[in-house]
Amino acid sequence: QGIAATLIPGDGIGPEISDAVVKILNAVKAPFEWDRQYGGLAGVEHGGEPMPQATLDSIRRTKLALKGPLTTPVGGGYRSVNVRLRETFGLYANLRPAKTLTPGGRYENIDIVLIRENLEGLYVAFEHFIQVGDDPEAVAISQGINTKAESRRIVRYAFEHALAHGRKKVTVVHKANVLKSLTGLILAAGREIAKEYEGRVAMDDRIVDACAMQLVMKPEQFDVIVTTNLFGDILSDLIAGLIGGLGMAPGANIGPDAAIFEAVHGSAPDIAGKGIANPIALLLAACLMLDHVAEKEKAAAIRKAIDLTLNADKIKTGDLGGTASTGDFSDAIVQRLG
Ligand code: NAI
Ligand code: MG
Repeated sequence: QGIAATLIPGDGIGPEISDAVVKILNAVKAPFEWDRQYGGLAGVEHGGEPMPQATLDSIRRTKLALKGPLTTPVGGGYRSVNVRLRETFGLYANLRPAKTLTPGGRYENIDIVLIRENLEGLYVAFEHFIQVGDDPEAVAISQGINTKAESRRIVRYAFEHALAHGRKKVTVVHKANVLKSLTGLILAAGREIAKEYEGRVAMDDRIVDACAMQLVMKPEQFDVIVTTNLFGDILSDLIAGLIGGLGMAPGANIGPDAAIFEAVHGSAPDIAGKGIANPIALLLAACLMLDHVAEKEKAAAIRKAIDLTLNADKIKTGDLGGTASTGDFSDAIVQRLG
């Protein structure tokens, strides 16, 4: 019995890494029955817009999608397709696990899950300019919106994630010393909800700027981090940098009605079409998707094959200092699935 899922191969390196990932998923007999849809530039070419109605309808039907990177067309007044998807499907939790897969970076043992609030904060982009004299853009004003309900929901998600994955601590990251209202809500939610998990999951908090320094100096102290939209966007890229870069970093956008899995990186136009992109980030996103549909053994088999390929056999793509093509690398994974 298959599980219907939407596949958006995406732009740039998207089709290359999607092909690699689908090949590997087929090799582990993953249960997904793909409904292929367009998005981004490919969406404009085939459906007249970056997020065609057919793609949205497909996700509404399957509630499950694997998405390659999408290029938001510059000009034409299009909104970010990624923001649009999050809003359309209420994908409030952005899950970004970062685990060292291969030594050689600054740290050998990173294992951090960052959970970012995905719908609120400054990213609601209620922005405008005020004219002063003859300069219409003399003053920029932006209002962020955070709600108590959403702060509680994202913090609870973080504690539940910690509990389900045997993690010990949730760190709430904020700037409540300055943005007392806007980011004080998530700190208050953290303190309140932590009581329910006492003895099972610990809670502490950090101010975002100090947290950024500590992530670089001593990342081993972090386990699960939960934070607001803007801080989460920035810190998750920082954390990706600790484990070897964007080519290794998966993400999941999760809400009550749908879940969309993706690589954190973009469409990498500089290397698109060359067959050299690293498919690991999208492959790990597919592993999160397998976890999500309770196919944990298949996800574990793929993660083990990635480990063997990188570490036992030293087969790597160019971004990791190797010479393997996307196809060589994914063939090597398939051979090591056990
Ligand atoms: P990018 O992530 O596409 O590329 C940054 C650098 O990392 C480039 O040098 C690229 O070659 C390299 N890189 C990225 N992924 C790689 C992989 N899998 N293997 C090897 N190297 C990899 O970021 P950039 O250049 O800022 O954005 C390009 C386009 O992607 C833009 O149109 C942007 O809007 C879009 N984008 C889409 C995202 C999404 O759909 N989730 C996220 C970020 C950007
Ligand atoms: Mg980002």
